[in-house]
Amino acid sequence: MRMYDIIDKKKKGDALSDEEIEFFVKGFTSGDIPDYQASALMMAICLKGMNEAETTKLTMAMMESGDVMDLSSIEGLKLDKHSTGGIGDKTTLVIEPIMAALGGKVAKMSGRGLGATGGTIDKLDSIPGFSSELSEERFIEQVKEIGMVDAAQTKNLVPADKKLYQLRDVTATVDNISLIASSIMSKKLASGADVILLDVKCGSGAFMQDYESAVKLAETMIKIGNNCGRRTAALITDMDQPLGHAVGNSLEVLEAVEVLKGHGEERLTEICKELSAYLYVMSDLSDEKDESKRWEEAYRVIDEVISSGKALLKFREFVKAQGGDDSFVDDPTVLKQALYKKDIISDRDGYLSYCDATKVGLVSCMLGAGRVTKEDSIDSSAGIIINKKLGDHVESGEILATLYTDKQDVLEKAEEDFLSAYRISDNKVEKRPVIIKRI
Ligand code: URA
Repeated sequence: MRMYDIIDKKKKGDALSDEEIEFFVKGFTSGDIPDYQASALMMAICLKGMNEAETTKLTMAMMESGDVMDLSSIEGLKLDKHSTGGIGDKTTLVIEPIMAALGGKVAKMSGRGLGATGGTIDKLDSIPGFSSELSEERFIEQVKEIGMVDAAQTKNLVPADKKLYQLRDVTATVDNISLIASSIMSKKLASGADVILLDVKCGSGAFMQDYESAVKLAETMIKIGNNCGRRTAALITDMDQPLGHAVGNSLEVLEAVEVLKGHGEERLTEICKELSAYLYVMSDLSDEKDESKRWEEAYRVIDEVISSGKALLKFREFVKAQGGDDSFVDDPTVLKQALYKKDIISDRDGYLSYCDATKVGLVSCMLGAGRVTKEDSIDSSAGIIINKKLGDHVESGEILATLYTDKQDVLEKAEEDFLSAYRISDNKVEKRPVIIKRI
């Protein structure tokens, strides 16, 4: 088999065989196939597409390129949830303890943030003492002991994707649904869970900015998951503005705790409960056979574990199990505090009518909360607290948001960029629902 022929075949629009896909993934991972041939194939795929069978095979070949977690020693169905990434998305920190408090087994590996998009591991790492680097044995033990774990992806998880993503990033071949879906799902499958819930974000702060692409990506990932024997579902959710009030690592952890305490921001709370309800209904936690009753039961038990404090207790247990100091739950000043803060004041009356959420994420990055390159270090206390949501009325002189940073010299530019990310208009605009579609 020759890589040249595989590229040529895809260039002509023909479907690749299982053997050809496997040959490419193995050869590229081992270094036998050079970057220039892999780039040519990626471009041919972008231009000619891949069918469902090819996309599933590519995903499986990538999954098999490195370590595959064996979670079979943990009793019951193992649950995982994935967000395609957004601004202020701290839902994982809420959903995991809710599900574990309900008896679920949450085995999750998370990523770090890059650019405007935050990552769960950076958020957790803002907790003093917290360790996100766990051995496979410890990862499994912790799920057995307390029902949940969240750790950084192991170094050898889907090495094919690490190499391929770097190449796609610099060859304008990221934005193909089959390539995105296989990249995401290969990591989910290798992480070993039986139930995979996908939160596909859609809007100005999301990878998929338009609705049609978000639905297409969700449907493709569901097919891959189901073809590989995993229970997979997806929600399309709004990312036309940051989720909740907080953007930035420790600020987001504190906001997640507010939801677990039962007084979180409305839209954030709604999405956390909906994602949890999905996991509950998809899992083996209920004996109820009637599906509509199972949904009713899900919402009821989720409310119960929040109002009784059981979900918050589980969160504290999780923080301590991974070496963290949970005292910040009672006293937020235990967390590192930013040296400077600045209120952003509205200079006019009106309604918030538009938000460029990616721009807000980049402001947070500029304040120190994110990385521009993978090697950058981040400031756990930097970020933004946003007081207003789209559709809200704003008065001149009101505080729209507060910036937090250790870098005094970026405050002026950050304020200017933040203000330019929002539009205030005279007419009231309809609020877009946070849950856009259930798939
Ligand atoms: N996220 C991923 O993990 N892979 C992609 O290709 C795009 C987004």
